[in-house]
Amino acid sequence: MAKPNGAVSRKILLEKLTREVIGLEVQYTLATGERTRRIYLDSTASTLRLKVVQDVLDKFLPYYSNTHSLLHFGARLSTKEYHWAHEMVLEFVRANPEIYTAFFVGSGTTGGMNRVARTLREKRPERDVVITTIMEHHSNDLPHRKHFREVVHIPAAMASHSLGCVNLRRLEETLREHADKVNYVAITGVSNVTGIINPIHEIAELAHRYGALIVVDAAQMAAHVPIQMSGHDNPAHDLDVLVFSGHKIYAPGSPGVVITRKDLFADLEPQEVGGGMVDAVYINRYTQSQKFPDREEAGTPNICGAIGLAAALYALHKIGMEMIAEEERKLIEYAIEKLSAVDDLIIYGETDSSLCKRYGAISLNLKNMDHGLTAATLNDYFNISVRNECFCAHPYVREMVTMSLAEEAERLSDEELEQLAELHRGMVRASFGVYSTRKDVDALVAALEHITANKNFYREHYVRLPSGDYEHKTFRFDHKKIFSIQDEVEAFLAARGF
Ligand SMILES: Cc1ncc(COP(=O)(O)O)c(C=O)c1O
Repeated sequence: MAKPNGAVSRKILLEKLTREVIGLEVQYTLATGERTRRIYLDSTASTLRLKVVQDVLDKFLPYYSNTHSLLHFGARLSTKEYHWAHEMVLEFVRANPEIYTAFFVGSGTTGGMNRVARTLREKRPERDVVITTIMEHHSNDLPHRKHFREVVHIPAAMASHSLGCVNLRRLEETLREHADKVNYVAITGVSNVTGIINPIHEIAELAHRYGALIVVDAAQMAAHVPIQMSGHDNPAHDLDVLVFSGHKIYAPGSPGVVITRKDLFADLEPQEVGGGMVDAVYINRYTQSQKFPDREEAGTPNICGAIGLAAALYALHKIGMEMIAEEERKLIEYAIEKLSAVDDLIIYGETDSSLCKRYGAISLNLKNMDHGLTAATLNDYFNISVRNECFCAHPYVREMVTMSLAEEAERLSDEELEQLAELHRGMVRASFGVYSTRKDVDALVAALEHITANKNFYREHYVRLPSGDYEHKTFRFDHKKIFSIQDEVEAFLAARGF
């Protein structure tokens, strides 16, 4: 693989790549009647697509063919490049290919986590406890609940009324308490709510000390910080399994990715069976392939997804994830500094970066303003795309909101406190990608300042629907005027005389 060039040229490359992003220039008409460029602050849900990914896919599509064959030219090209995509994944997460394999699964990190839970339960049935944390996305919680006798949730550590990364002391106590029953510790690398980063290698060492494995949810980590699964000076720091999603790393529509030590998935019947993972099938028996990753990829894979993802990973690898992480660290610190100065604004989680590092996301609320109304106003009046509610991490969000209200408890009546709790039963999340800029942050800060100074104006313009969403009283957005599959096909056919 070609070596990345010097730091200066990589920085220039990063700047160029991040200006060539599909969707960065999209414009919408707002409730004010103005038409402006959309500011995308929802990268934690899905990143925008790098143009290099789209280019690679456009170039690949004419040759597209099913994999699992080297016979005709197209099949050979697809099979070889799909194979290379696996190598690229291993390289990207620095996992030794002798020891680890990478395979693609459907439905993102969720699909991957379900596969891991089922497999490790079967592999180590005597260990029927999983330790996870309250910080997790439901995808790194419910699969373990479904397949294991017990799941223990470790609380987050507290630092001056803010919730930070996972409480390591409680983790060790729990590992000791359940001793030889713990199958694995399932932990997020970076929180999808606060962006707070967990010390995964320290956690790996703890887990390994008690014979447990470590499974890392890297859905929010992969696009933001460098990952090193193997080859640490202390082998106890190596990671056993890691899962992430292509749509969160600049290649939307791509599959989930599992990288695992091969021995953990070997000598078991793969969870999914069908074509591609068998050596021979007779009417009364079949023999499964022992080859990785084939045995984990029954059926026709998401070939385009894997190729798009590999293109994104290679481009990021050429720039260097260290540089990407450093640029993002500076942006997040800038955002926290600016947001901290907005009146009546609560930022959730520790804001002192020397105590708790963050990447990717910041969640907040304006006091006395429903998160749904803040998010709708940011969209309809300021063209800023954020996400709100609980981000599939209900326990973490609930705990943080409750803690932030504790400070108000002394000066408010029970009724006022209840009203406040109702308003803040979710949050607003601003999240970032390589294309996010200080200008985006400035626009968010200016909008929040405006909203907080004019709360009544915005309240009057919305009704709260039974679903909890806010609808503008007069302004309507009709997406079909911008895009509809049916209309696009109709237009295509009409151009051909139909
Ligand atoms: C930390 C984390 N884990 C898991 C997931 C689930 O990922 P996917 O939607 O790709 O299944 C998400 C999605 O937001 C996430 O943020």
